[in-house]
Amino acid sequence: MQSVKIIEIKTKHHPELGSLSFFEAEKDIDFSVKRIYYTYGVPEAGQRGGHAHKKLQQVLFCPYGAIEFILDDGQSREHVLLDDPAKALVLGSGIWRDMIWRQAGSVLCVGASAWYDAEDYIRDYAMFKQMVQEGYWHED
Ligand code: TYD
Repeated sequence: MQSVKIIEIKTKHHPELGSLSFFEAEKDIDFSVKRIYYTYGVPEAGQRGGHAHKKLQQVLFCPYGAIEFILDDGQSREHVLLDDPAKALVLGSGIWRDMIWRQAGSVLCVGASAWYDAEDYIRDYAMFKQMVQEGYWHED
C-alpha cells in the first residue's frame, strides 16, 4: 500500500543488558519530527484511531506489547501487527487507521511531522472515501 511502510528500527543488543533501538528523523524517515505523543493504559481489545489525516506524516512504534493496525487507503485494507520494539510503521497522509490493543498495557509511541491541528483530522469515513475518490491525495 502506498504511504505505508514497515521499517526495522536500528537496534543494539547487549547479551545481558537488553537492547537499545533508535531512529533518526530525516535519515531513517524522510520527515522531521515536530511532535511526540504516546498512548498507554488501554485495555486488551481497546480500540482507538478511527480517522485519517489530510497532511500529517507519522512514525509509530510499540516499545511494549502488541497493537494491531487496520490500514485503509480508500481502495484496500491491510493489517499490520506492531509487536516488536524494533519495528516501526511509517504512515503518510490519507490513510484511515483503526488500532486494536492486542495486549493490555501496550504502549504506542508516535513521532509526527507537525504540531497538533484538529483541522488535519478526517473523522468521518464516508467523507474520507469521498476525498479519496476526488483525488485529494493524488500525486502526479
Ligand atoms: P486522537 O488522535 O483521536 O487519538 P486516538 O487516535 O488514539 O484515539 O486524540 C485523542 C484526543 O487527544 C483528541 O481529543 C485530540 C487530543 N490530542 C491532542 O490534544 N494533541 C495531540 O497531539 C494528539 C495526538 C491528540
